[in-house]
Amino acid sequence: MDDVVIARALHVLAVVIWIGGVAMATTVVLPAVRRGDLGADRLRAFQAIEHRFAWQARTAVIIAGLTGFYISARLDLWERFASPQFWWMHAMVCVWLLFTVILFVAEPFIVRRHFETWAIAAPEVALAWLQRAHWALLALSLITIFGAVAGSQGWSAF
Ligand code: HEM
Repeated sequence: MDDVVIARALHVLAVVIWIGGVAMATTVVLPAVRRGDLGADRLRAFQAIEHRFAWQARTAVIIAGLTGFYISARLDLWERFASPQFWWMHAMVCVWLLFTVILFVAEPFIVRRHFETWAIAAPEVALAWLQRAHWALLALSLITIFGAVAGSQGWSAF
């Protein structure tokens, strides 16, 4: 079972780096950028930080996904997906899917092009929207982490 223990440790490490970074971006970087504390060119300030973090987040998403599916397969946990008691298993897959689409499809191909145009035309509105989107993703991720840690120890909300 050493392989499952190691997979779980890597899973949690990836989640810490990834969601920790989302929390930092949401609660520290974005408010500072919006106030202009990191320079008058707010879009450039945000992108300088977000582009560097995006690679860490992409790597962490791949590791969390691979290890998560590995543990599920090794322990044959698939039937959990048929039970609402294991809502946190569904939540993990949903959060993972959401970030996979955002980081690998939306961010490089859609957001970068359209968001830049929007942020130049209406920086206040665009940055406010960006912060709201980050808060929504962070809240979903934190609920999922709470549910996964408590749920894997046998706690059930239902
Ligand atoms: C493809 C997506 C994912 C799969 C298949 C998956 C699968 C798993 C599995 C099978 C476990 C072990 C559960 C148990 O021991 O009963 C686990 C634990 C955990 N996962 Fe995921 N996971 C995924 C994504 C995520 C995401 C996106 C997060 C965070 C937002 C996350 C956070 C956690 C946490 C915090 C634990 C608990 C570790 C512990 O306390 O031992 N997982 N995951």
